[in-house]
Amino acid sequence: MQIIDGKATAATIKAEIKEEVERLVAQGVRRPHLAAILVGHDGGSETYVKNKVLACEACGFESTLLRFEDTITEEELLAEVNRLNEDETVDGFIVQLPLPAHISEQSVIEAIDYRKDVDGFHPINVGRMAIGLPCYISATPRGIIELLKRYEIPTSGRKCVVLGRSNIVGKPMAQLMMQKEYGDSTVTVCHSRSANLKEECLQADIIIAAIGRPGFVTADMVKPGAVIIDVGTTRVPDATRKNGFRLSGDVDFENVAPLCSAITPVPGGVGPMTICMLMLNTLAAAKHEYYK
Ligand code: GUN
Repeated sequence: MQIIDGKATAATIKAEIKEEVERLVAQGVRRPHLAAILVGHDGGSETYVKNKVLACEACGFESTLLRFEDTITEEELLAEVNRLNEDETVDGFIVQLPLPAHISEQSVIEAIDYRKDVDGFHPINVGRMAIGLPCYISATPRGIIELLKRYEIPTSGRKCVVLGRSNIVGKPMAQLMMQKEYGDSTVTVCHSRSANLKEECLQADIIIAAIGRPGFVTADMVKPGAVIIDVGTTRVPDATRKNGFRLSGDVDFENVAPLCSAITPVPGGVGPMTICMLMLNTLAAAKHEYYK
């Protein structure tokens, strides 16, 4: 059984990005610049955004963090989005989700100029991804594809079960695993209403679990030799930890790991890759790789 080390892979990719950035800067090109909007004080979002800023430093990017209280109105937030759309010194930006309930996430996502939408959440990028056109691909699914590729895990013609149908992970993941140039797999998407979920999983060569339920995938659902990708990052209270919680994946790692051929741990699997792919999207934005 092989542990798929997302932390180490992400460090390698960040070093590759940094090298390319320094080469570009030496040629007189401006450093890639990522901006992030953070609304409110959600603990998870604070951590994610802090790690995004740190990743920018590691990659030699410039970064700008714009913070707002959760009393900001939708109109005010849309004005900030427009300001970033028009700021020529910003190559790409993200609005960290979730947003407070009084703000429509969809309206905010659609207000972002799709050419700067390095999260790949804008309907233009989602649509282009679905039909295999150049675009920003959302970071978590792209990170998983990159892990499968770098670990030389065969996916072509294999049966892949995606657990979860979110816009950010499940749907784009299923699209990419289906497409010839990425997974080239036979894909089944299961969710909370799926009948025969266990039987579907038992047939899978690759299971990608993104449902946000700690320990959901148990050993009796896994075919021996399967590859398991765990996207779950639920905060579970843990009094033995300094911060009072630990991250729990969607997979019962202890009992599933001995059965499978390869598995991503939580933490240290998919998570570090996600931020790394945001950096790759930002580099692509700075180079106008997809949109002129
Ligand atoms: N919230 C959870 N994941 C993400 C992400 O990838 N991007 C943004 N903007 N918000 C998130």
